[in-house]
Amino acid sequence: MAGFTIGKQGTFLETVHFDDNLEISLFTRGDGVEIIQQTIGEGKLFYVYPSGNVNALEFYFIVSGEVECEVENKKYILSPKDYFIARELSDPIHFTALSKVSLLCVFTEQTFVHISKDISSLIEIKKQVELKDIYTQKHSDRVANYSVKIAKKLKLNKEKLENLAIASVLHDIGKIHVPSEILNKPGKLTDEEFDIIKKHPADGAAMIKESYYKELVPIIEQHHERLNGTGYPNGLRGDEILLEARIIAVSDTFDAMTEDRAYRKAFGAQFAIDELKNLAGTHYDQEVVLALEEILKEEGLIDYCTTGK
Ligand SMILES: [Fe+2]
Ligand SMILES: [Fe+2]
Repeated sequence: MAGFTIGKQGTFLETVHFDDNLEISLFTRGDGVEIIQQTIGEGKLFYVYPSGNVNALEFYFIVSGEVECEVENKKYILSPKDYFIARELSDPIHFTALSKVSLLCVFTEQTFVHISKDISSLIEIKKQVELKDIYTQKHSDRVANYSVKIAKKLKLNKEKLENLAIASVLHDIGKIHVPSEILNKPGKLTDEEFDIIKKHPADGAAMIKESYYKELVPIIEQHHERLNGTGYPNGLRGDEILLEARIIAVSDTFDAMTEDRAYRKAFGAQFAIDELKNLAGTHYDQEVVLALEEILKEEGLIDYCTTGK
């Protein structure tokens, strides 16, 4: 039935096997929350660290095995059905697995993506793309940074925000298939060359499909679509394009304009935002462009008094 999932023993979205003594598996994720299983070998030490985010909550439930921890010089032994919670923790707490232990964990902060083998291999590809294209060093990180700021202004929920951040970092991975002569060509591209470039959103989407972040597929595929249907690869229009993809479109274009290119020097932030405003409503989402303008003003990158166009 729609909305209902049964998971048979041992089925996970992804499992990361560190060694024989540590395995972390993701059951599910949603609305910023992750439900995880950790299996730790007998005699092994593990830590729970304070989080940088004061609102973050980590809940651990002992499913099997026993663990020992020492807090303020007092020792505690935790057995099956016992649990512990870390919230606004002041210092790291260390635990010892007295026997092979299995923990069910609920984290309100995205954790698994940082250890995911799928995602780290895609981040590796992103780095290779940036090495190949000499003008896009750190491009994706900057796009992610603008996109997250815009999404916060537009009040996207936590899950959308987290997905958008990862999709932004990975948006151009499909360029791994574009020859560097085309990526770095100083002159105008031929139609054939542009056709090759145009494949990168769908190629990138196909690469993500294999990871547990499948829901990022349409965002990556749509990041070059434009509101009036002139974008690629599918010529989608208006609301057919996901808001997340419309946000990346704006951050991506702004970053491309404010960086040097093989054929021109970087434009200033004011010029770039004015260009985006000229194309708002036809190519770019008006609200998204205005949110970016607001951010640039707040950061002092453009003047408050300049009306632009
Ligand atoms: Fe792109
Ligand atoms: Fe890009």
